[in-house]
Amino acid sequence: MSWPFKILPRLFSKATCLVATSCFLCVSASGLLLRGLDDPSGWTLEQWIAWRDHQIGRIFTPTVQAGGKLILSREEVILRSVDAYKVLMPVIAQSDLMSKPGFKTALGNFSRFVRSQSQMAIYDKNGRYTHALGYPITDEAYWAQSAPFLAFPPLLRSREFLSALSSVTTYQRALDLIDEQNLHLPVDRRWITLIYRSGFLKSADTATYGRLLVFVPGETNSHGDLLEKWIQFSLSVPEATMPGKGRLNDLRSVSMVTVSVHSGAVRNSTAYLADFMRTRDKLSGNIQIVPTMLGPKNPSKNCYDCHKSPVLPIHPKATYQFTSKGQLDVSDSDTAAIIEQLNARIVGYGNCALAGMDTGSYGPSIGSGPKERTDPWIRVNSGNMELGGESVARIREAMRCPSCHKGSQSLNYPQSAQTNIGLLIFEQKKGLVQTYVENGWMPPNNTLTPAERTALWRCIDSEYLDSRNLSGTFIDWLKGIPQP
Ligand code: HEC
Ligand code: HEC
Repeated sequence: MSWPFKILPRLFSKATCLVATSCFLCVSASGLLLRGLDDPSGWTLEQWIAWRDHQIGRIFTPTVQAGGKLILSREEVILRSVDAYKVLMPVIAQSDLMSKPGFKTALGNFSRFVRSQSQMAIYDKNGRYTHALGYPITDEAYWAQSAPFLAFPPLLRSREFLSALSSVTTYQRALDLIDEQNLHLPVDRRWITLIYRSGFLKSADTATYGRLLVFVPGETNSHGDLLEKWIQFSLSVPEATMPGKGRLNDLRSVSMVTVSVHSGAVRNSTAYLADFMRTRDKLSGNIQIVPTMLGPKNPSKNCYDCHKSPVLPIHPKATYQFTSKGQLDVSDSDTAAIIEQLNARIVGYGNCALAGMDTGSYGPSIGSGPKERTDPWIRVNSGNMELGGESVARIREAMRCPSCHKGSQSLNYPQSAQTNIGLLIFEQKKGLVQTYVENGWMPPNNTLTPAERTALWRCIDSEYLDSRNLSGTFIDWLKGIPQP
């Protein structure tokens, strides 16, 4: 999906780092350590705690202006995590620091967090980021491991389908091909398609909010696991495509989430995610689908920044159907049932892990506060002193997000903090969690009034990360303070 920043600032200048292929091995001597505490390998636990708290203050100082207040910059958090990890990493590598009494509790979570953030800043000798997707392995290695799960079904990579999808005038032909194939499939194996306008963000090619979602149910692989594929093509739809960007050269993105539902009694699944681009081979005229992480420029970043549930529910701004002349027109009449059917499948994935991602290093879920949520606390933090007793009770009850969002389904950093991701990438200029709560989509089936929803959002937000006072459940977790 699309990110406006092409590239992070270079993290290590060539002067401080000669080992260009693995830049984490070099420690810059200047500027990183607390004054007077020079050699970290000899620090006491108290010195480490003082250093950690100083780093937390630095990392979580908001720097981006948003509507009169400051919010966090995703890139700054990564860069500052690099500074912290450059100090921690060599000491951990060379000593048994974490096995000394008290150290693991005090530094374990913090070290995990700065490690997973800073690895996104690793680049190679050509200046190309090698871990942009946020996995501990390189993006190329991730592709090598997950490619078997992320293969396109033959129809979707066929010349006929991809050519039809390369021009607005033949979109209907592409959809007809899927319908024709469906006629030969048993009902429960039929593909489901939805043409919609994202209510959140442009495609990775930055050309459009338009999407063709193709849901491919249940192919069983050689291990007996059921593979379900959610494949999304960028598409030109009325009033949602950037001016002049209707051709294949512009509308190139394809993204896939594959969920592998494991056989067995417990509902368990693993997800694989990748972005692709469609490119036309100049000689043959064939259209190929190439994973973005193998291309010279990779526009794709960490999917887990947003995909806390590997498949995100669809909440379109509009849906489209073909007119009798084969043109796309807004038509929401028949699609509500399709959307409901698609979103309902997410629950069926049970506890779904993102293959290879250290999801626990992104912190606890929003709503998991140890705080006793007293009536005055709710009124003060919601910014609404007028809330009646009944409202306060309803908000307190609704704050229990982790009763469902726990383990690998936790809603954690950065989705649960206010960052520039919401501001720069999402059309509504705010984060996903805020939108879900304010629109009344979460918690499920709630009957909160609009004022109560706003209050709920403010309460879970300030309980999670209050960057002005550097407090909250997330900060407590980083410091190793036990969670409830
Ligand atoms: C900035 C947030 C963000 C990032 C980062 C992001 N996505 Fe998404 N993605 C969304 C949202 C929101 C949706 C839900 C559909 C919509 O409304 O646009 C979505 C939907 C999808 C879908 C359709 C199936 C589903 O989950 O609903 C696919 C496939 C997908 N994303 C793939 C990816 C891949 C692969 C990556 C990483 C390379 C990625 N996304 C990164 C926000 C993001
Ligand atoms: C009763 C269980 C339940 C509770 C409680 C609940 N959720 Fe959810 N949530 C779900 C399910 C199931 C989905 C995915 C399917 C859907 O949207 O229906 C989801 C999806 C989401 C998503 C989009 C997917 C993602 O991972 O980002 C967000 C954001 C979200 N919930 C936020 C919240 C917040 C915030 C709270 C607490 C205020 C909350 N939820 C409470 C069950 C729950």
